[in-house]
Amino acid sequence: MGKKKKLFRFADIKIMPCVFEPTMDDCKSKNYALKGNWRSTYFKNDNPLILELGCGKGEYSVGLGKKYPDKNYLGIDIKGARIWYGAKTVMDEKLPNIAFLRTRIDFIDAFFGPDEVDEIWLTFSDPQPQKPNKRLSSKHFVELYKKFLKPGGLIHLKTDNDLLFESTLEQIQEHGYTLLEKTWDLYGEMPESLDADTREILTIRTYYEQLFSAKGFKIKYCRFKVH
Ligand SMILES: C[S@@+](CC[C@H](N)C(=O)[O-])C[C@H]1O[C@@H](n2cnc3c(N)ncnc32)[C@H](O)[C@@H]1O
Repeated sequence: MGKKKKLFRFADIKIMPCVFEPTMDDCKSKNYALKGNWRSTYFKNDNPLILELGCGKGEYSVGLGKKYPDKNYLGIDIKGARIWYGAKTVMDEKLPNIAFLRTRIDFIDAFFGPDEVDEIWLTFSDPQPQKPNKRLSSKHFVELYKKFLKPGGLIHLKTDNDLLFESTLEQIQEHGYTLLEKTWDLYGEMPESLDADTREILTIRTYYEQLFSAKGFKIKYCRFKVH
Protein backbone atom coordinates (compact mmCIF):
# COMPACT_ATOMS: atom_id res chain seq x y z
CA MET A 1 0.00 0.00 0.00
CA GLY A 2 1.32 3.49 -0.89
CA LYS A 3 2.44 5.77 1.93
CA LYS A 4 -0.15 8.41 0.99
CA LYS A 5 -3.01 5.92 1.14
CA LYS A 6 -1.78 4.60 4.48
CA LEU A 7 -1.61 8.12 5.94
CA PHE A 8 -5.10 8.85 4.66
CA ARG A 9 -6.43 5.70 6.35
CA PHE A 10 -4.66 6.48 9.64
CA ALA A 11 -6.26 9.95 9.60
CA ASP A 12 -9.64 8.57 8.55
CA ILE A 13 -9.93 6.03 11.39
CA LYS A 14 -9.14 8.84 13.87
CA ILE A 15 -12.47 10.47 13.06
CA MET A 16 -14.52 7.26 12.93
CA PRO A 17 -16.53 6.81 16.13
CA CYS A 18 -16.41 3.02 15.72
CA VAL A 19 -12.59 2.94 16.06
CA PHE A 20 -10.82 3.20 19.42
CA GLU A 21 -7.10 3.91 19.61
CA PRO A 22 -5.90 3.74 23.21
CA THR A 23 -2.62 5.34 24.23
CA MET A 24 0.36 3.52 25.72
CA ASP A 25 -0.70 5.00 29.07
CA ASP A 26 -4.11 3.33 28.69
CA CYS A 27 -2.35 0.04 27.97
CA LYS A 28 -0.12 0.30 31.02
CA SER A 29 -2.46 1.86 33.59
CA LYS A 30 -5.19 -0.75 32.94
CA ASN A 31 -7.74 1.98 33.70
CA TYR A 32 -9.20 2.36 30.22
CA ALA A 33 -12.58 4.08 30.47
CA LEU A 34 -14.42 1.41 28.48
CA LYS A 35 -12.95 -1.47 30.48
CA GLY A 36 -15.97 -3.30 31.90
CA ASN A 37 -18.26 -0.80 30.15
CA TRP A 38 -18.28 -1.65 26.44
CA ARG A 39 -21.94 -2.70 26.51
CA SER A 40 -23.32 0.12 28.63
CA THR A 41 -21.20 2.96 27.24
CA TYR A 42 -20.57 2.14 23.60
CA PHE A 43 -23.00 -0.52 22.36
CA LYS A 44 -25.80 0.68 24.65
CA ASN A 45 -27.31 -2.76 25.10
CA ASP A 46 -26.78 -5.87 27.18
CA ASN A 47 -25.97 -8.22 24.31
CA PRO A 48 -23.02 -10.65 24.18
CA LEU A 49 -19.60 -9.23 23.31
CA ILE A 50 -17.41 -11.17 20.89
CA LEU A 51 -13.81 -10.35 19.99
CA GLU A 52 -11.88 -11.03 16.79
CA LEU A 53 -8.17 -10.92 17.64
CA GLY A 54 -5.71 -10.05 14.85
CA CYS A 55 -8.75 -9.05 12.81
CA GLY A 56 -6.83 -7.46 9.91
CA LYS A 57 -9.54 -6.04 7.63
CA GLY A 58 -12.20 -7.34 10.03
CA GLU A 59 -14.06 -9.74 7.74
CA TYR A 60 -15.23 -11.90 10.66
CA SER A 61 -16.28 -8.97 12.83
CA VAL A 62 -18.28 -7.49 9.96
CA GLY A 63 -19.62 -10.81 8.63
CA LEU A 64 -20.74 -12.04 12.05
CA GLY A 65 -22.02 -8.62 13.08
CA LYS A 66 -24.27 -8.42 10.03
CA LYS A 67 -25.58 -11.95 10.58
CA TYR A 68 -26.17 -11.43 14.29
CA PRO A 69 -27.29 -7.82 14.91
CA ASP A 70 -28.24 -8.84 18.47
CA LYS A 71 -24.58 -9.48 19.38
CA ASN A 72 -21.72 -6.99 19.69
CA TYR A 73 -18.44 -7.50 17.82
CA LEU A 74 -15.06 -5.87 18.39
CA GLY A 75 -12.20 -6.44 15.96
CA ILE A 76 -8.72 -5.91 17.43
CA ASP A 77 -5.49 -5.37 15.53
CA ILE A 78 -2.43 -3.14 15.74
CA LYS A 79 -2.53 -2.24 12.05
CA GLY A 80 -4.74 0.81 11.53
CA ALA A 81 -4.57 0.73 7.75
CA ARG A 82 -6.09 -2.78 7.81
CA ILE A 83 -8.75 -2.01 10.42
CA TRP A 84 -9.82 0.86 8.14
CA TYR A 85 -11.50 -1.55 5.69
CA GLY A 86 -13.84 -3.04 8.30
CA ALA A 87 -14.43 0.32 9.97
CA LYS A 88 -15.32 1.95 6.63
CA THR A 89 -17.99 -0.74 6.06
CA VAL A 90 -19.34 -0.16 9.58
CA MET A 91 -19.57 3.60 8.94
CA ASP A 92 -20.99 3.32 5.40
CA GLU A 93 -23.57 0.69 6.34
CA LYS A 94 -24.32 2.17 9.80
CA LEU A 95 -23.75 -1.04 11.75
CA PRO A 96 -24.10 -0.13 15.45
CA ASN A 97 -23.03 -3.54 16.81
CA ILE A 98 -19.50 -3.59 15.33
CA ALA A 99 -16.43 -1.62 16.44
CA PHE A 100 -12.64 -1.83 16.28
CA LEU A 101 -9.87 -1.42 18.83
CA ARG A 102 -6.40 -0.60 17.58
CA THR A 103 -3.89 -1.96 20.05
CA ARG A 104 -1.37 -4.71 20.64
CA ILE A 105 -3.13 -7.84 21.88
CA ASP A 106 -0.27 -8.19 24.38
CA PHE A 107 -2.10 -5.49 26.42
CA ILE A 108 -5.57 -6.93 25.96
CA ASP A 109 -6.35 -7.38 29.65
CA ALA A 110 -6.19 -3.59 30.01
CA PHE A 111 -9.41 -3.25 28.00
CA PHE A 112 -11.93 -5.73 29.38
CA GLY A 113 -13.29 -6.48 32.85
CA PRO A 114 -14.00 -9.89 34.41
CA ASP A 115 -16.62 -11.92 32.45
CA GLU A 116 -17.11 -9.07 29.97
CA VAL A 117 -16.40 -11.16 26.87
CA ASP A 118 -18.50 -14.08 25.62
CA GLU A 119 -16.38 -15.48 22.78
CA ILE A 120 -13.08 -15.00 20.96
CA TRP A 121 -12.23 -15.62 17.31
CA LEU A 122 -8.61 -16.09 16.25
CA THR A 123 -8.64 -15.68 12.47
CA PHE A 124 -5.49 -16.65 10.58
CA SER A 125 -3.24 -15.54 13.41
CA ASP A 126 0.47 -15.15 12.72
CA PRO A 127 2.01 -18.62 13.29
CA GLN A 128 5.14 -17.15 14.93
CA PRO A 129 7.36 -20.16 14.05
CA GLN A 130 10.30 -18.89 16.15
CA LYS A 131 8.31 -17.51 19.11
CA PRO A 132 5.70 -19.97 20.43
CA ASN A 133 4.77 -17.65 23.33
CA LYS A 134 3.71 -14.98 20.84
CA ARG A 135 1.11 -17.26 19.23
CA LEU A 136 -2.33 -15.97 20.12
CA SER A 137 -3.38 -19.48 21.24
CA SER A 138 -0.38 -19.93 23.56
CA LYS A 139 -0.80 -20.36 27.32
CA HIS A 140 0.60 -16.85 27.80
CA PHE A 141 -2.28 -15.30 25.83
CA VAL A 142 -4.93 -17.73 27.09
CA GLU A 143 -4.06 -16.64 30.67
CA LEU A 144 -4.79 -13.05 29.61
CA TYR A 145 -8.09 -14.07 27.96
CA LYS A 146 -9.18 -15.92 31.12
CA LYS A 147 -9.20 -12.60 32.97
CA PHE A 148 -12.19 -11.39 30.93
CA LEU A 149 -13.67 -14.39 29.09
CA LYS A 150 -16.86 -15.74 30.69
CA PRO A 151 -16.61 -19.27 32.10
CA GLY A 152 -17.54 -21.60 29.24
CA GLY A 153 -16.80 -18.88 26.67
CA LEU A 154 -15.68 -20.32 23.34
CA ILE A 155 -12.39 -19.69 21.56
CA HIS A 156 -12.53 -20.33 17.80
CA LEU A 157 -9.37 -20.72 15.74
CA LYS A 158 -9.31 -20.79 11.95
CA THR A 159 -6.00 -21.12 10.13
CA ASP A 160 -4.22 -22.34 7.03
CA ASN A 161 -1.10 -23.06 9.07
CA ASP A 162 -0.22 -26.63 10.21
CA LEU A 163 2.28 -25.48 12.84
CA LEU A 164 -0.16 -23.09 14.51
CA PHE A 165 -2.99 -25.64 14.38
CA GLU A 166 -0.85 -28.44 15.78
CA SER A 167 0.56 -26.27 18.54
CA THR A 168 -2.97 -25.08 19.47
CA LEU A 169 -4.16 -28.69 19.77
CA GLU A 170 -1.11 -29.48 21.91
CA GLN A 171 -1.83 -26.52 24.18
CA ILE A 172 -5.43 -27.66 24.57
CA GLN A 173 -4.28 -31.09 25.65
CA GLU A 174 -1.37 -29.95 27.80
CA HIS A 175 -3.34 -27.39 29.79
CA GLY A 176 -6.58 -29.36 30.12
CA TYR A 177 -8.75 -27.09 27.99
CA THR A 178 -11.87 -28.66 26.45
CA LEU A 179 -11.73 -29.33 22.72
CA LEU A 180 -15.22 -29.07 21.22
CA GLU A 181 -14.63 -29.31 17.46
CA LYS A 182 -11.66 -29.97 15.23
CA THR A 183 -11.08 -30.39 11.52
CA TRP A 184 -7.86 -30.37 9.51
CA ASP A 185 -9.82 -29.70 6.32
CA LEU A 186 -12.82 -27.50 7.00
CA TYR A 187 -14.17 -27.38 3.46
CA GLY A 188 -13.39 -31.04 2.74
CA GLU A 189 -14.65 -32.40 6.06
CA MET A 190 -17.04 -29.95 7.70
CA PRO A 191 -17.88 -31.67 11.05
CA GLU A 192 -21.37 -33.16 10.84
CA SER A 193 -22.15 -32.03 14.38
CA LEU A 194 -22.19 -28.37 13.29
CA ASP A 195 -25.56 -26.71 12.78
CA ALA A 196 -26.45 -24.81 9.60
CA ASP A 197 -25.69 -21.35 11.08
CA THR A 198 -22.25 -22.43 12.28
CA ARG A 199 -21.48 -23.97 8.89
CA GLU A 200 -22.44 -20.71 7.24
CA ILE A 201 -20.27 -18.51 9.47
CA LEU A 202 -17.31 -20.83 9.06
CA THR A 203 -17.34 -20.05 5.35
CA ILE A 204 -16.68 -16.34 5.86
CA ARG A 205 -13.38 -15.93 3.99
CA THR A 206 -10.87 -13.40 5.24
CA TYR A 207 -8.17 -11.75 3.14
CA TYR A 208 -5.51 -14.16 4.45
CA GLU A 209 -7.77 -17.16 4.00
CA GLN A 210 -8.25 -16.30 0.35
CA LEU A 211 -4.52 -15.75 -0.09
CA PHE A 212 -3.55 -19.13 1.38
CA SER A 213 -6.48 -21.11 -0.08
CA ALA A 214 -5.38 -19.93 -3.51
CA LYS A 215 -1.95 -21.43 -2.79
CA GLY A 216 -3.59 -24.80 -2.03
CA PHE A 217 -3.41 -24.75 1.80
CA LYS A 218 -6.22 -26.59 3.56
CA ILE A 219 -8.19 -24.51 6.05
CA LYS A 220 -8.26 -25.86 9.60
CA TYR A 221 -10.70 -25.01 12.39
CA CYS A 222 -11.11 -25.83 16.04
CA ARG A 223 -13.06 -24.45 18.93
CA PHE A 224 -12.39 -24.96 22.61
CA LYS A 225 -13.15 -23.77 26.14
CA VAL A 226 -10.43 -22.79 28.60
CA HIS A 227 -12.46 -22.62 31.82
C1 LIG B 1 -1.97 -13.00 9.16
S1 LIG B 1 -2.85 -11.58 9.57
C2 LIG B 1 -4.56 -12.11 9.54
C3 LIG B 1 -5.50 -10.96 9.41
C4 LIG B 1 -6.98 -11.36 9.26
N1 LIG B 1 -7.49 -12.00 10.45
C5 LIG B 1 -7.19 -12.24 8.06
O1 LIG B 1 -7.49 -13.43 8.25
O2 LIG B 1 -7.06 -11.74 6.94
C6 LIG B 1 -2.54 -11.42 11.30
C7 LIG B 1 -3.02 -10.11 11.87
O3 LIG B 1 -2.79 -10.12 13.26
C8 LIG B 1 -2.26 -8.87 13.67
N2 LIG B 1 -1.47 -9.13 14.89
C9 LIG B 1 -0.57 -10.12 15.07
N3 LIG B 1 -0.06 -10.07 16.31
C10 LIG B 1 -0.67 -9.03 16.93
C11 LIG B 1 -0.58 -8.47 18.23
N4 LIG B 1 0.24 -8.98 19.16
N5 LIG B 1 -1.35 -7.41 18.52
C12 LIG B 1 -2.18 -6.88 17.59
N6 LIG B 1 -2.31 -7.36 16.34
C13 LIG B 1 -1.57 -8.44 16.01
C14 LIG B 1 -1.45 -8.38 12.49
O4 LIG B 1 -1.33 -6.98 12.50
C15 LIG B 1 -2.28 -8.90 11.31
O5 LIG B 1 -3.22 -7.96 10.85
